[in-house]
Amino acid sequence: MAAGGGTLSDLWRRRAGAVHVPAEGADLPDGASRTARSEGGGMSAHLSIRNLIKRFGGLTATNDFSLEITPGSSVGLIGPNGAGKTTIFSQIMGEVRQDSGQIALDGLELTPLATARRIRAGVSRTYQVPRPFAEMSVAENIRVGLMPDNIWSMIAQGPDPDRELELALSVGFTKDQLEKLPSELSMGDLRKLEMARTMATGPRMMLLDEVFAGLTVGEIAMISGLVQQMRADGMTFLIVSHDLKALEPLIDRAVAINHGTLIADGPYDEVMNDAAVRASYLGT
Ligand SMILES: Nc1ncnc2c1ncn2[C@@H]1O[C@H](COP(=O)(O)OP(=O)(O)O)[C@@H](O)[C@H]1O
Ligand SMILES: [Mg+2]
Repeated sequence: MAAGGGTLSDLWRRRAGAVHVPAEGADLPDGASRTARSEGGGMSAHLSIRNLIKRFGGLTATNDFSLEITPGSSVGLIGPNGAGKTTIFSQIMGEVRQDSGQIALDGLELTPLATARRIRAGVSRTYQVPRPFAEMSVAENIRVGLMPDNIWSMIAQGPDPDRELELALSVGFTKDQLEKLPSELSMGDLRKLEMARTMATGPRMMLLDEVFAGLTVGEIAMISGLVQQMRADGMTFLIVSHDLKALEPLIDRAVAINHGTLIADGPYDEVMNDAAVRASYLGT
């Protein structure tokens, strides 16, 4: 289904080759590998979160939260509104700084790194509220994801219209939508743009925040198919979705939180039947 004849993992590999990375091993601990390859030949990442704590004033948004996601697996992060799901994403990306705890990608400690460095390390997210650059077209928004943040390689490399088109088509845009502005797009198209922009950074680990919110049944099926294809290629996922029916087939395991605290971790059915999880959804 991928445009241009290659698989999606081909797209990522090509992207990975174009990324400016610091000298091999520059900030990697002994024995850590920058890219872990899954058996399928795709690229996977191992995420390790240990004892994460984040307070906003008197509110503990993340309460001693720990999570291991093995390379190539897909975890659903569930919990009622305000449970702290988005705040965990923001800490993984370095957009919100944790008060304490560690977050590592393939053994690389992310805490000292700025967001752009974390993206280069291989982790990327979508936003619950899509955040395109309003004055830029669909193609230009994807281009921003494709461009290394290093200004010199940006100049040397220049835009890559073929890759922009490939990514746009792979998330379900039509060619004539490439020049559209975000203001002209439906919520479904804005979510597709979030996916394309995130995929453009060449991640090995993707964090998807409410990817299905506001989508039609057809759009849910399309994005879902895309996620399944990337899973088959070895992508590691952490997915937040209120639409549990859409989430279930995309994950190997579910992790439930409430008030920033992990309350269940295991197979989807087990977690959904957990008494504490049920109570959290009823607001008790
Ligand atoms: N920047 C912030 N400043 C203060 N409180 C925040 C901030 N971001 C999130 N919160 C609070 O932290 C809690 C968790 O929010 P959030 O992570 O967005 O939950 P979820 O994504 O599970 O709905 C909520 O009570 C929210 O109001
Ligand atoms: Mg949220």
